Amino acid sequence: MSDFTSNFWSFYVAGITIIGIVACGLLLWITSRKKVEATADNTTGHVWDEDLTEMNNPMPRWWMWLFIITLVFGAGYLAAYPGLGTFKGKLGWTQLGEYQAEVDKANAELQPLYARFEAMQPQEMAADTAAMAIGERLFMNNCAQCHGSDARGSKGFPNLADGDWLHGGAPDQIQKTIHDGRIGVMPPMAAAVGSPEDVRNLAHYVLSLSGSPHDSLKASLGKSKFTACAACHGMDGKGNVALGAPNLTDDIWLHGWGEAAITAMINNGKTNEMPAQTGKLTDAQIKVLTAYVWGLSNKAGAPR
Ligand code: HEC
Ligand code: HEC
Repeated sequence: MSDFTSNFWSFYVAGITIIGIVACGLLLWITSRKKVEATADNTTGHVWDEDLTEMNNPMPRWWMWLFIITLVFGAGYLAAYPGLGTFKGKLGWTQLGEYQAEVDKANAELQPLYARFEAMQPQEMAADTAAMAIGERLFMNNCAQCHGSDARGSKGFPNLADGDWLHGGAPDQIQKTIHDGRIGVMPPMAAAVGSPEDVRNLAHYVLSLSGSPHDSLKASLGKSKFTACAACHGMDGKGNVALGAPNLTDDIWLHGWGEAAITAMINNGKTNEMPAQTGKLTDAQIKVLTAYVWGLSNKAGAPR
């Protein structure tokens, strides 16, 4: 609740607030006790600009009561709700609690909607227009900021519609990715490869695996260095979904291609994270999203 490192500012803020309320009350009390002697014509006797006089009428009752009610309300509000420094208020209300209550209420209302999908296989759901409309909305709200509204990703954020997978494209693999998140870790490999020359040659060998433009002489010199990479990417460079190591033979590049991009990858490595969605989304929502993502690359006729 408190961002302060000591209690000083909490007391400072609370003190000023309480003093302010008490001072307003005192002001009202003092002014209401002070009677000004009225003259015969009910003026205070003050005259400005020759003929402008001040009447000696009391303040209207309703105004007085409004003032008092405001003071009492202020005191009551500050006792019940957070407002006085770090005092949490008697009702224990928090923004977070209110937000959670609203989320819980919305989830409870949506429960019957998702109940229909409970018994469905992801493959079935992907063919269900109502489920996919929900999936698309969930994707726009929770995933599109990283993967793009067409799910085709961008540099560092994988394309989810192309049938090429870091962590596997079977429904249960996709579900695990969304539920628990994934961290792809490629360690810096320069030391294991050798000299900067070796790293460059290896980069050309990697490019040759997918038939990307490369220097074939350098590639043949770099080939033997690929043993350092085989543990994760496989001896044939086709990757390993258990480690999130991408297929290097398919000309699909998450972090860019070309000598510079691959050399940087070998020298610096890369840690890339897909954040876990459990806690943010319900299991039912994750199930619908799984079917939606699976369906993106498993439509009849979609490029695989
Ligand atoms: C903060 C950015 C971010 C958000 C939000 C995000 N993702 Fe990801 N996602 C990533 C990154 C980065 C990766 C790649 C992880 C890696 O390199 O191992 C990834 C990977 C994935 C993968 C695995 C792809 C593969 O090739 O195996 C799936 C599936 C996926 N995300 C689905 C989703 C869904 C569904 C959502 C919405 C609920 C979502 N993501 C939200 C950043 C994000
Ligand atoms: C410990 C396992 C591991 C080793 C060893 C490893 N890599 Fe990787 N590599 C990965 C992972 C995991 C990723 C994906 C990182 C991510 O999620 O963004 C990756 C990504 C890459 C990429 C980017 C691919 C793309 O689509 O942009 C290249 C290129 C690459 N590795 C080349 C190599 C080379 C060359 C070697 C050997 C010198 C090597 N890797 C060794 C795990 C490894």
